[in-house]
Amino acid sequence: MKKTWWKESVVYQIYPRSFFDTDGDGFGDLNGVRAKLDYLQELGVDMIWLCPVYKSPNIDNGYDVSDYQAIMDEMGTMEDFDRLLDDIHSRGMKIMMDLVLNHTSDQHPWFLESKSSRDNPKRDWYVWRDKPTNWESIFGGPAWTYDPKTSQYYFHLFSKSQVDLNWENAELRRAIYDMILWWLEKGIDGFRVDAINHLKKDYTDMPNPEGLNYVAAWEKMTNVQGIQELLEELRRETFGRYDVVTVGEANSIRAHEIGEWISEEEGKFNMIFHLEAHEEAWSEESVGGVDVDDLRIVLDRWQRSTQGIAWNALYLENHDRPRTVSTWGNDRELWRESATALACMYFFMQGTPFIYQGQEIGMTNAPFDDIDLYRDIETKNMYRYNRQKGVPHVDLMKTLQKISRDHARTPMQWNFGANAGFTGGKPWIPLNPNFNWLNVTAQQPDPQSVLSFYKKMVQLRKQHEALIYGSTHLTFLECPYVYAYTREYGQERYLVVSHLDNDTCSWWSPEEGQLLLSNYARHIDGKLQPYEARVYLLT
Ligand code: GLC
Repeated sequence: MKKTWWKESVVYQIYPRSFFDTDGDGFGDLNGVRAKLDYLQELGVDMIWLCPVYKSPNIDNGYDVSDYQAIMDEMGTMEDFDRLLDDIHSRGMKIMMDLVLNHTSDQHPWFLESKSSRDNPKRDWYVWRDKPTNWESIFGGPAWTYDPKTSQYYFHLFSKSQVDLNWENAELRRAIYDMILWWLEKGIDGFRVDAINHLKKDYTDMPNPEGLNYVAAWEKMTNVQGIQELLEELRRETFGRYDVVTVGEANSIRAHEIGEWISEEEGKFNMIFHLEAHEEAWSEESVGGVDVDDLRIVLDRWQRSTQGIAWNALYLENHDRPRTVSTWGNDRELWRESATALACMYFFMQGTPFIYQGQEIGMTNAPFDDIDLYRDIETKNMYRYNRQKGVPHVDLMKTLQKISRDHARTPMQWNFGANAGFTGGKPWIPLNPNFNWLNVTAQQPDPQSVLSFYKKMVQLRKQHEALIYGSTHLTFLECPYVYAYTREYGQERYLVVSHLDNDTCSWWSPEEGQLLLSNYARHIDGKLQPYEARVYLLT
């Protein structure tokens, strides 16, 4: 495969609202990102993915954009952004922006115009109908909202404040391309493209044998025939002309479909984020562990399907998922061990590794036991609609404690001080109280900490090309709960072993291997300890 800078990079995802607040308003800001560049550089990060900072009423924390070419008040100004961009570049680092193209805020001037009258020139930039389909929105409730002024319904895949753009309209597409070119000209280095498999829809009713009020319509909103032509035009008119990296968020894509999405020959993006591993290997019921068999099946399928053809986006966490040490690991007795073993499992596969803020210190799910502690619109809607359906409060609270997106959004835990050093003001969302022991300051001097382990992983990947460009081969050891694979490159072979279980098990460690990395200070001959992880150079 072609060697390229973004294949050799490690990316760090920042949810800036929860990262670091420099002006005391309780929201993280752009200057907060600037202030922590030393930290990121020390971690070894090459590139930052910045979640949306565009002007927004923040119904969905910036994923509801009201001006693509301005910065939201909480985050600072465009001058702050330009300074951040300069600082990042002068350190030899790069930045990718989040790009929300499926919808805008209902406060975007385009939508205000569109809804002002049926014959407004921008009417057709959004999706208006006399009669709605029977679909449910992804955030719950109906996917269409009635607008009394013009007596029609508008379509929204997510909340009613996130209005879907009509990608069938050529003028709208041109306006979007111009906006993207404006950012590219500014010198940013790439985009993570939000919810990109939804650009085209098949607006017909779902079967409704149970007579529900609204029906989930995933297949009519996702990967609809003709989407590739739209994506090809998008690529050709915008990022295809620059040396930048693109990662599409395309949840429901399966490994056998990647050709037209990300292959070096005909792909529209360089990588995609898929959700398959999270869907298959973990369900609400299996909290407290991961199904290692399922995980192997899914991730190995992706490793094999991309071999020689395409590149993976490797991730454990993001701003939409609970914390993996709490879901796939053991965040109580074996917190440090399981956080590092999970890290080792994904980090050395073929692909570009993404680290989500706080993951590198093993941040955990928050123990929020009151619906008022949550902030996320999806979480709130889930609670509201399920209560209406009669689901008991206690059951819902238990579910939210496992799956809410807010677990990833509690403030970054920097130190032992007030609000973990995140803000001098009142944080927009409560902190996870475990910052009194789980924080950056506590882990920096400790060579055995989760943070130190991440630093070692990043360095190791940089030192050995085989861990970047080698082929991946799944390996089975005697222990059933081990995820093991080799990376092979020319004459070199590396073995990555992650034992994802609470018990000890027997195995034969390689006789002729040099141990390069491990998350245990002491090893036991012939045994893998709970959540023990090792990387060998095989000789
Ligand atoms: C993506 C984002 C998520 C957001 C949604 C709507 O899935 O990652 O945070 O709520 O799109 O924009």
